[in-house]
Amino acid sequence: MAALLQGCTSTKIMNGIIAGDDLIVPITDFETRAVNQIHYKKYVVVQNDMLQYPICVYRHNENEYAALWMRCTHQGAELQVFGDKLQCPAHGSEFNNKGAVQTGPADSKLRTFPVTIENSQLKISLKAI
Ligand code: FES
Repeated sequence: MAALLQGCTSTKIMNGIIAGDDLIVPITDFETRAVNQIHYKKYVVVQNDMLQYPICVYRHNENEYAALWMRCTHQGAELQVFGDKLQCPAHGSEFNNKGAVQTGPADSKLRTFPVTIENSQLKISLKAI
């Protein structure tokens, strides 16, 4: 009975595992299962104690993901995710789901990280942090 009340607003914050220079996110973290069906979340937010800011990972399609550093490029506030955009609570900058600026005062895109898919896992390279 309680399962019927869960709805579709499940928390999308995941704890990623850091292995070497990579943040590992299982692709199953994007899945939500209904009876005989798998749906995919647009994004998950990945945290790890070693990371100063979370990383928002958007799923554009089964082979294309974007990993965005949730640090505003204006003055460094942590961003919040709303659907396909990230908003800054400090001065209102907005970024799209590929990290491009949509609304200032920020004037440069978000930092992104290379994502590779291996054995049903995303490997997000953190080398340059
Ligand atoms: S710190 Fe984000 S808009 Fe100023």
